[in-house]
Amino acid sequence: MVQGKFGGEAELKPTISVIGLGYVGLCTAVCFASRGFMVYGVDVDRERVHNLREGHPPLYEPNLENYLNRTLRTRMFLPSDDLNSAVDKSDVTFVSVGTPSLDDGSIDLSSIKQSSSAIGTSLRNKSTRLLVVVRSTVVPSTCDKVVKTEIEAASGRKCGKGWGLCMNPEFLKEGSAIHDTLYPDRVIIGESDKKSGAALMSLYRKFFRRRVIVKRMSLVNAELVKYANNAFLAMKVSFANMIANLCESLALADVKVVTEAIGLDERIGSAFLNAGLGYGGSCFPKDIKALAAFGRKQNVDLPLVHATAAINKEQPLRSVDLAEKLMGSLSGKRVSVLGLAFKPDTDDMRGAVSIPIIKDLLQRRANVVVYDPKAIPQARSIFEGSVTYAESAIECIRGSDVCILVTEWESFRDLKAQEFAKLMKHAAIVDGRRLFDPSQFSRVKYAGVGLGPNQKARIV
Ligand code: NAD
Ligand code: UGA
Repeated sequence: MVQGKFGGEAELKPTISVIGLGYVGLCTAVCFASRGFMVYGVDVDRERVHNLREGHPPLYEPNLENYLNRTLRTRMFLPSDDLNSAVDKSDVTFVSVGTPSLDDGSIDLSSIKQSSSAIGTSLRNKSTRLLVVVRSTVVPSTCDKVVKTEIEAASGRKCGKGWGLCMNPEFLKEGSAIHDTLYPDRVIIGESDKKSGAALMSLYRKFFRRRVIVKRMSLVNAELVKYANNAFLAMKVSFANMIANLCESLALADVKVVTEAIGLDERIGSAFLNAGLGYGGSCFPKDIKALAAFGRKQNVDLPLVHATAAINKEQPLRSVDLAEKLMGSLSGKRVSVLGLAFKPDTDDMRGAVSIPIIKDLLQRRANVVVYDPKAIPQARSIFEGSVTYAESAIECIRGSDVCILVTEWESFRDLKAQEFAKLMKHAAIVDGRRLFDPSQFSRVKYAGVGLGPNQKARIV
């Protein structure tokens, strides 16, 4: 434990280890370290550990590099590949390894199994109590049937005897991961027993230093909260997209106006109702598939989950249809794609809707030129030589026949209709995220997701 001061009282800060230094683990680690907790970070990827020690995060995330370098300098964050020593030195171990999709949509628990077993082995000779906290997204019963079982088998100690277990799902969003870690809406604690839940609650009290809503529950409820949460948010997005498709068939209809209005109903709320080209990322698509697969395993039909996924599968390709509506056949045409990351402020292209869109464009024999402020290196490893990589948004649209805006980076907002008109061969734009005001695009062929036919003025 580290001695610290808060509110005039001396307090002991538990020593932390974090297993798995991706988005979730790294943000958890540097945030705890920045608030005076000693944090041992562990990852099996040695190159990642080496780069972290040099102050280079494996991913782009606002503020992450600052936090990393600050906590390395103060030596409150020590990354390594030595799980045994990290667990041995710590009071609390967070597990934040990846849980990717398998071919049938269910999740791959091999990293969870492996890290649990390794924690159990370190626990065998540990003289002080350890709290194991699962932060990865895992299907119901994983904590009980996999994590607990593996740790008990490897340590020879029953849960509750020198160690306890919590499920503490993470709700951070990429692009605001540090902020979300420091200022969450609420903290969910699933607990194997009251003592473990109380220990995690006490840790968070020391970490947040302010009132935060905490809900304590069983392990299985906490596992389910995470899936229900993501499925509900994804369902809102698919709902907005379904209404957008209806709007496109109706003169004078505009999904933005409709969703803004329904969002004012407090029972609905305005968040996650932005219609666009569908949700992407490393989590919504994976978690929706995992929930559907889990329903199948339990013999429980989950029709809303299936509908959410089905709408999302079609949505990206609507942008290509809109481009064809504006320009006719895309064969041989130069199509500029603005934005590749699955959302702004990240370089993450996992599950990005830009991928099916570009594949479809290539299949239709279009010449594709792409630009993204951060994700070009990721795009190169996916599309290699099949597309042209532009160095700026302006270079991307120059000489193109039609432009599809896929990711709503703030910097794209500065592009003016005159620039499209001047630089493009045929000024035609598909606004896949409704970033632009259609009334400004009178000299440009414009089609927006969820905007009824022949509209240039914003009609309210
Ligand atoms: P990630 O793939 O970015 O990182 C996972 C890390 O774990 C990798 O660095 C990998 O090398 C490491 N790892 C794998 N096996 C290991 C082992 N046995 N020991 C030590 N390290 C190991 O994953 P992520 O995006 O941080 O997600 C982690 C989990 O959190 C997933 O279950 C995900 O669904 C969930 N989650 C992610 C987000 C997000 O925004 N990315 C948000 C909430 C929850
Ligand atoms: C999402 C959740 O928001 C987090 O709470 C959760 O922790 C995380 O998944 C996870 O489990 O990993 P994230 O994927 O980082 O976070 O990003 P979001 O902001 O949720 O966006 C997801 C996708 O939905 C993006 O492709 C975004 O463009 C799309 N989206 C979002 C819309 O199309 N419309 C909206 O109104 C909101």
